[in-house]
Amino acid sequence: MGASKTGYTLGAREVFELVQPELEQVEAQIARETASEVTAITGISRYLQASGGKRLRPTLLLLSAKLCGPVTREAIELAAVVEMIHTATLVHDDVIDVAETRRGRPSTNVIWGNHTCVLAGDWIYMQAFRIALRQRDFRILDILINLTQQMVEGELLQLERLRKIDISEAEYFDLVDRKTASLFSACAQLGALVSGATEMVQAQLARYAWNLGMAFQLVDDILDFIADQEVLGKPVGSDLREGKVTLPLICALRTASEDERALIASIVSDGEYTRVAWADVLELLHRRGGIEQAFEQARQFADQARAIIQTFPDSAIQRALASLPDLVVERDR
Ligand code: IPE
Ligand code: IPE
Ligand code: MG
Ligand code: MG
Repeated sequence: MGASKTGYTLGAREVFELVQPELEQVEAQIARETASEVTAITGISRYLQASGGKRLRPTLLLLSAKLCGPVTREAIELAAVVEMIHTATLVHDDVIDVAETRRGRPSTNVIWGNHTCVLAGDWIYMQAFRIALRQRDFRILDILINLTQQMVEGELLQLERLRKIDISEAEYFDLVDRKTASLFSACAQLGALVSGATEMVQAQLARYAWNLGMAFQLVDDILDFIADQEVLGKPVGSDLREGKVTLPLICALRTASEDERALIASIVSDGEYTRVAWADVLELLHRRGGIEQAFEQARQFADQARAIIQTFPDSAIQRALASLPDLVVERDR
């Protein structure tokens, strides 16, 4: 795995092990902070917490904090905050996308219904901000508010661009930036900030994580076409069914024939694979090199992230951060 580029890379388990004790504290914090007298809130939070997300965002925050100094109580709390913000976006996202499955289980909208999920998501957002507020640091709130608005704007823009097969690469990258890279970037910046790093180091780590986040979402969109459904924990082919034209298709459509465009257009307008089979979509994508070109773009973001983190002095934590780009590109879920 990328050994020629990085000299030595860590596996996923080794990366997570470096912050394992801290991650356990983060889990305990989340469990404490999401208990409410209203059972739906506690139920939805517990359900998602127990369903085995990757915890990538708190890990990124903790590693960034550890790169710049010892991990403090504040860092643990902020790691809980970013995972809770992520959870709230997933609860809302599954309502918006009319999802049925998340993390290999029925999604929360299926079990609790849309109305409850919208309100519970709001509550989780607010609880995350309440925890962050305890630190009485306007810089932290500034980052978190900016980030949350970016994510909401990303979801709104995506709704506007739904079912458009002429979405440009620039529009697509703008969505990915807002929806995903902004949160990754904030995680690294917050980790550096609570460890007392300079603004320059904060900015460098933010840029590293932004590139990592871009690669992550590009791979997510590729996996939506090529993953093993069981491993992925959500059905493949969902994006196109939901009317989302993502990078593999944008690339393929560049050189597609009129007939091929018509084939994609019919799925996007039908919202199902009846008139056109899923296998035909995959075949078209491979024929036009859409998957390979999207992977190449993901690799470029990953390379950029790696280049930035390699300007930091060598240490176990630096190596873990330098390994994440490879792990993100090579992941299967
Ligand atoms: C899902 O993120 C939402 C995207 C940005 C694609 P993850 O794939 O990190 O979700 P979990 O937390 O591991 O389930
Ligand atoms: C993920 O968006 C949620 C956010 C980043 C806000 P998607 O709708 O693209 O991701 P999945 O496929 O549901 O995880
Ligand atoms: Mg979704
Ligand atoms: Mg969505």
